[in-house]
Amino acid sequence: MQADLIIYNIGSLLTPIGKDNVKGNDMSKVSSFEDAFIAIKDGIIIGVKEGDYDEFAGDGTFLHNAHGNLVIPGLIDSHTHLIHGGSRENESKMLLEGSSYLDILKAGGGILSTVKATRESSFKELYNKALKSLDKMLLFGVTSIEAKSGYGLNLETEVKQLEVAKELDKFHPIDIYNTYMGAHTVPKEFKNDKPAYIESLIRDMKIIKDKGLATFIDVFCEDSVFTKEESKYILKHGISVGLIPKIHADEIVSIGGASLAAEINASSADHLMAISNEDIKILANTNVIANLLPSTSFYLNKDYAPAKKLIESGCSVSISSDYNPGSSPSENFQFTMQLAAKKLKMTSNEILNASTINAAYNLRISDKVGTIEKGKDADIVIMDCKNLDYLLYHFGINHTLDVFKKGQIVVRDKVLV
Ligand code: NIG
Ligand code: FE
Repeated sequence: MQADLIIYNIGSLLTPIGKDNVKGNDMSKVSSFEDAFIAIKDGIIIGVKEGDYDEFAGDGTFLHNAHGNLVIPGLIDSHTHLIHGGSRENESKMLLEGSSYLDILKAGGGILSTVKATRESSFKELYNKALKSLDKMLLFGVTSIEAKSGYGLNLETEVKQLEVAKELDKFHPIDIYNTYMGAHTVPKEFKNDKPAYIESLIRDMKIIKDKGLATFIDVFCEDSVFTKEESKYILKHGISVGLIPKIHADEIVSIGGASLAAEINASSADHLMAISNEDIKILANTNVIANLLPSTSFYLNKDYAPAKKLIESGCSVSISSDYNPGSSPSENFQFTMQLAAKKLKMTSNEILNASTINAAYNLRISDKVGTIEKGKDADIVIMDCKNLDYLLYHFGINHTLDVFKKGQIVVRDKVLV
């Protein structure tokens, strides 16, 4: 078959093995090709091989030179709070002076201050702010993301957030998958009546699902936020209206969010900085993705999740930026990967699996992205370096050279097309 695009002169091509999630020791394996090319037709990969590309080339074939560089699948950021108003640099000082993240929240700041800013922002303001972040993500080589609501905490603003994400998904090269997170915290107006807020969530999730605004539902299952029982109640209702559950679990205090994720077969349990040994074993017997967010540990000066223990126990691990204004104010997914290397002590192959196929499985899109193989979307990143170890070692900079989304060039020579 003749390709319409061939990416050739690839020094090293790395891609996960397999269609679904990669677990435990298998996370140390990836497929590697040297002196390779990728043939693409109509945005779909039709061949990945070492050596000569002649069999795929014809008159109309466009040739793109990878200049002997590293090529990997488009990166997938499966946990972001992309759509929000305002910023919280004022809290940075409070955190350094010893206030805890939960103390700031209890005092009406934290998530609640972003709720205020998000409610006050117009659709256009939220759109323009998120667009800037999406462009940054794309420049870092990210081609698919998840985006949560959760800064509205009322139907009107939750819908506004999710509609902004839907609109951006239509016009931006990055594919966006929405999560409804009305259960991010209890808003001020329900401060003294949490049960009534939970009942309002049950009503709203059905409306949001019926409008086609979200695929997933998430709860912040945390000490002084939502208990394990409340989280279970909310997520079970979410499942009954057709949303796929996710949980912010064991981020600060271990209250059993990870075991709840296993019990209700969530697509992911996220954070897990405080997960217990017992819950690691429970998670390992499931296909729930342990989604680790080392940029959050970095910014909050907290412990890092026990990535090695999770992998050694047989879990499927992914990593995400957790981009949000309060605990991870950075869109830099490559920095998340570098922290996974230095702080989670994951190997480069584990990090590749965690940033691509396992993240794709988490978002239920592993049938079309997450690997570079025949039949999948041509979501491909050419890095300005020769190997993944170098990318993980030379930290804090952007290594991306070119990005292809469904076979279209969207970043060329480090610049958005
Ligand atoms: O994943 N933990 C809850 N949610 C976010 C932080 C949100 C915020 O502080 O605005 C997180 O860390
Ligand atoms: Fe989060």
